[in-house]
Amino acid sequence: MKAKACLRRENAAIVLFLAAFVLIFLRRHMDDLEFQPKVKSTIIMPKVSTDPDMNRSFCTFKPLSPKDALEERRILDSTAWPETPLLPAPISLEQTSDPAHSTFTILPGMKGGQWHVGDQLQVMIQTSDFQGRPKKSGGDFLLTRLHNRKLEAGVAGQVVDHLNGSYSAVFSLLWEGDAQVEVTLVHSGEAISVLNRLNREQPDRIYFKSLFHSGSLSETSFCNVCLRPTQQPLCNYTDLRTGEPWFCYKPKNLSCDARINHYIGGYKQNLLNANEEKLFQSGVNLKVYIRASGPANVTVLPQKEGQLKVKSSTVTSGPSGYYYQGVWRALGGTTVCKFNTSSAISQCLKGKAVHMYGDSTVRQWFEFLNAALPGLKEFDLHSPKQTGPYISLDNANNILVTFRCHGPPIRFSPIPTRELRYIANELDGLNGGHNTVVVLGIWSHFSTFPMEIYIRRLQSIRRAVVRLLNTDPGTLIVIRTANPKALTLSETISNSDWYSLQRDKVLRAMFKGLNVHLIDAWEMTLAHHLPHNLHPPPPIIKNMVNHLFSYICPQNGG
Ligand SMILES: *[C@@H]1O[C@H](CO)[C@@H](O)[C@H](O)[C@H]1NC(C)=O
Ligand SMILES: *[C@@H]1O[C@H](CO)[C@@H](O)[C@H](O)[C@H]1NC(C)=O
Ligand SMILES: *[C@@H]1O[C@H](CO)[C@@H](O)[C@H](O)[C@H]1NC(C)=O
Ligand SMILES: *[C@@H]1O[C@H](CO)[C@@H](O)[C@H](O)[C@H]1NC(C)=O
Ligand SMILES: *[C@@H]1O[C@H](CO)[C@@H](O)[C@H](O)[C@H]1NC(C)=O
Ligand SMILES: *[C@@H]1O[C@H](CO)[C@@H](O)[C@H](O)[C@H]1NC(C)=O
Repeated sequence: MKAKACLRRENAAIVLFLAAFVLIFLRRHMDDLEFQPKVKSTIIMPKVSTDPDMNRSFCTFKPLSPKDALEERRILDSTAWPETPLLPAPISLEQTSDPAHSTFTILPGMKGGQWHVGDQLQVMIQTSDFQGRPKKSGGDFLLTRLHNRKLEAGVAGQVVDHLNGSYSAVFSLLWEGDAQVEVTLVHSGEAISVLNRLNREQPDRIYFKSLFHSGSLSETSFCNVCLRPTQQPLCNYTDLRTGEPWFCYKPKNLSCDARINHYIGGYKQNLLNANEEKLFQSGVNLKVYIRASGPANVTVLPQKEGQLKVKSSTVTSGPSGYYYQGVWRALGGTTVCKFNTSSAISQCLKGKAVHMYGDSTVRQWFEFLNAALPGLKEFDLHSPKQTGPYISLDNANNILVTFRCHGPPIRFSPIPTRELRYIANELDGLNGGHNTVVVLGIWSHFSTFPMEIYIRRLQSIRRAVVRLLNTDPGTLIVIRTANPKALTLSETISNSDWYSLQRDKVLRAMFKGLNVHLIDAWEMTLAHHLPHNLHPPPPIIKNMVNHLFSYICPQNGG
């Protein structure tokens, strides 16, 4: 039974597909090697970055070593989004991308409209504006998937921007039968320009506070890594070990030492004018489907024997997995097993310590485990609701599971200062080894800040990961990526999928080549039929956690 529940990949098509993936990966990697960083000939002051945005910013950026600065430059360049030509102010909706006037077309392919498992399906997407005129520039943010609701099958498509108003989407055909194409305009390029500007000009649009308290005196103060300069003196809470900066305005009558907690203060309102807001309308141009000009589905035939196929040159990467009968099948070489009984899960986790660090999207896994394992009991540490720390124990099976949120700019309810920890420091205090699993998920709370802040945070976490793997080899490190979510105008301003996507690219680039495992929450959410949610619903979490188990217990695959 167990062997049956565990999915095996014996499909030659997928092996072929992987081979192509490796080739593409190598090609991309070579592009990386060929990249020549832009070096300014002028003398650069040691603590001033080469990024012209940074010196006028009121955000504090930790100084970088030349090597880290070079990496930052390379990552920023490789994740640069295509520029959308600036529209004359005031922005008129008429000239921006309109999903209702845009269409996609399934291309006939090399076999003239016949597809087999293992082939690729190519789709051309032509965007047009609200007056129906084809767009001439790129930069729209499109998400695509191929799916079959009855088979509960789905896979994310890879989109290529041709920068002329047309886009290609490429899908791997991984199941037999009907396959339906879905294309969604998340944001127009014009909307992306607005989001980009918001991060440059309003990186403090989500603000934070701390309570200061001593004796009978209490004061609250604003805190941030992006704190606008005023006459008020600052308290400097820069972490001495990681160098992560954090500041509060100094309270009038209390010392900086009197800071007792950290919490989200709120969201600045009315940051966009009426015209700009029109770029983010649910049902109009915010996460809206684009229709097909012809058929939107194809029938996929069984795989053809001995059929070698050539990969399209437009593909930049393949999917990391796909759903079939509601179960995620990873294509990265790991067999994803269905740990669908609590005893199978306990067996897998027996003797293990699983430490989870990050935001609420990782806390969801902690909660899932507690619910899935009757033997696992949460110990009441009287921790605040969102922040943790949490500890769960299964004494009989010697299982320990913990959760702790990441450091500022965590947007949670009040967290005592002494519980405010940076992941890198936590990892430095951890005893790792073969029975230790570390799960990291840190992305969502960085969306409104300049990318440089996220890059620095990941660099310090990565250094700690490398130290841990060096001292305690055998420690299993698993990273949960970002995922798309439901979007309204205000959700977009604070946490658009575009911000998440860009951070996700940085995360992947940053941990590439390390002995860490990714769980591709992005594709697992995108490929699934359930609506996008910051906290994906249980069927998706179950698959993610199953994927985690398959890394912890690969041999249980049967
Ligand atoms: C769990 O896996 C077993 C095989 O080990 C299978 O028979 C059963 O249908 C699965 N249950 C669920 C709810 O998926
Ligand atoms: C930032 O500094 C660079 C030199 O390091 C300079 O060329 C650029 O003009 C400055 N930008 C602003 C906005 O001050
Ligand atoms: C846009 O570029 C793609 C790729 O180069 C090309 O196939 C397509 O015909 C172009 N579309 C237009 C409208 O020029
Ligand atoms: C804050 O403290 C750090 C660490 O001591 C120091 O490097 C940095 O210069 C300080 N920043 C400010 C603005 O005082
Ligand atoms: C600080 O103390 C002074 C003098 O006791 C008092 O007038 C003032 O209101 C206090 N300010 C704050 C912000 O508590
Ligand atoms: C596409 O889907 C429709 C409706 O589900 C179905 O009738 C049709 O046969 C499908 N077309 C192909 C080419 O599979």
